Amino acid sequence: MQNETLSLISARRSHRAYENTPLTKEQLDALLKAAVESPSAVNRQPWHFTVVRSQALLDKMNEAVWEQMMKREAQKRSPRFLDGNFHVFYHAPTVIFISGMPDNPYTPIDGGIAVENIAIAAESMGLGSVILGMPRDAFAGDQAEAFKKALQFPEGWDFVIAIAVGVPADTKDAHPVKEDRISFVD
Ligand SMILES: Cc1cc2nc3c(=O)[nH]c(=O)nc-3n(C[C@H](O)[C@H](O)[C@H](O)COP(=O)(O)O)c2cc1C
Repeated sequence: MQNETLSLISARRSHRAYENTPLTKEQLDALLKAAVESPSAVNRQPWHFTVVRSQALLDKMNEAVWEQMMKREAQKRSPRFLDGNFHVFYHAPTVIFISGMPDNPYTPIDGGIAVENIAIAAESMGLGSVILGMPRDAFAGDQAEAFKKALQFPEGWDFVIAIAVGVPADTKDAHPVKEDRISFVD
């Protein structure tokens, strides 16, 4: 079967290079609308979305992630950090951070659903995205509280996930699908 939604799901890729083109207000509004329209357990909407366009802040967070990563033994570091020029946010013009309500077992799931809504919405507008878990490390160091404040996380809320969005400047094959991940019980 094929339809527009299924085609968008199939076409989505994680993009790791972006043009230096800002998102329009119309694009950003549509992404955030798709985000807040996500389903959530008991409709608690345990998320807060922070749109970051300040490259200076993203650079600071990139440095903080690098610092945490370099504290780990070499074999526990992501191989991406072998490239000294690696930037956690890939110089994307916009990164949306999702922070989440504490003491709710569904917060990470609801945040994950919202971030995928953003990814598919971006794809539908001809934009690219990459979901980002690595920024979590920026909230582990001594600048954690300063970053939470700069990102206007609600009091007591924590980083859940982020997503970089922009005009993609790379291409990528679909990821190979692992076998044996689907069972049928009739
Ligand atoms: C929860 C989550 C966290 C991720 N974190 C990162 C990340 O920090 N950096 C990155 O480059 N990609 C990250 N990714 C992207 C995955 O590497 C990517 O989805 C996977 O390799 C499959 O490739 P595709 O998205 O192009 O299909 C993340 C994806 C998910 C779902």
